Amino acid sequence: MQEPLVAPKTSETSSTSTTPTPEALFSATLVSPAVADSLPESYTIRPLRKSDYARGFLDCLRVLTTVGEITEAEWNGRYDWMSTQGQGGYYMMVVDDGSRIVATGSLLVERKFIHHLGMVGHIEDIAVAKDQQGKKLGLKMIQALDFVAEQVGCYKTILDCSEINEGFYLKCGFKRAGLEMAHYY
Ligand code: ACO
Repeated sequence: MQEPLVAPKTSETSSTSTTPTPEALFSATLVSPAVADSLPESYTIRPLRKSDYARGFLDCLRVLTTVGEITEAEWNGRYDWMSTQGQGGYYMMVVDDGSRIVATGSLLVERKFIHHLGMVGHIEDIAVAKDQQGKKLGLKMIQALDFVAEQVGCYKTILDCSEINEGFYLKCGFKRAGLEMAHYY
């Protein structure tokens, strides 16, 4: 893993509240005001809600990969785990166009011992609905997740992607660093 160039921030002591609310997976104070203000009329960006099961969240994710048929009970179980045991580790965000979820992305926050208890953000599962691609929603989602990562005290954010998406992440300000390897089970 790439070494940081500067001493990492370990601001778990940050004054920003990351606590989930009854309505959302994490506090709306972590939503970038600049990104929120830049969206088209009627579009909002916000933390994932349990009720997003009924707003097409899983359909949006299907542009990325196989999701499977997930029942509402299964969804509720995973959401509840993320907001309790996973609290402070899972930041899933959505863009809603007023009628359905049209973009989503996740930031997973890894707490380390190295680099004086450093925290690393992992960006995962970025998906923009097919008919909404090319409108900068992907870019804004990455900017919003970057904002969360900085606010909660990560010293860097990393991600894996396929070659066909390299150009997109370069436009988002990422650069090639290292090599992905995998074991599948
Ligand atoms: N290759 C090169 N450049 C790209 C690509 C690409 N595949 N996709 C977008 N761009 C460019 C755009 O042209 C734009 O450039 P510009 O600023 O010069 O105009 C810039 O990147 C921003 O593009 P957006 O409009 O924000 O892209 P979009 O909203 O369509 O989202 C995304 C891009 C997320 C890749 C979308 O096409 C998508 O959901 N694809 C299917 C799912 C997927 O592959 N997700 C990424 C998986 S990797 C991961 O999750 C860590």
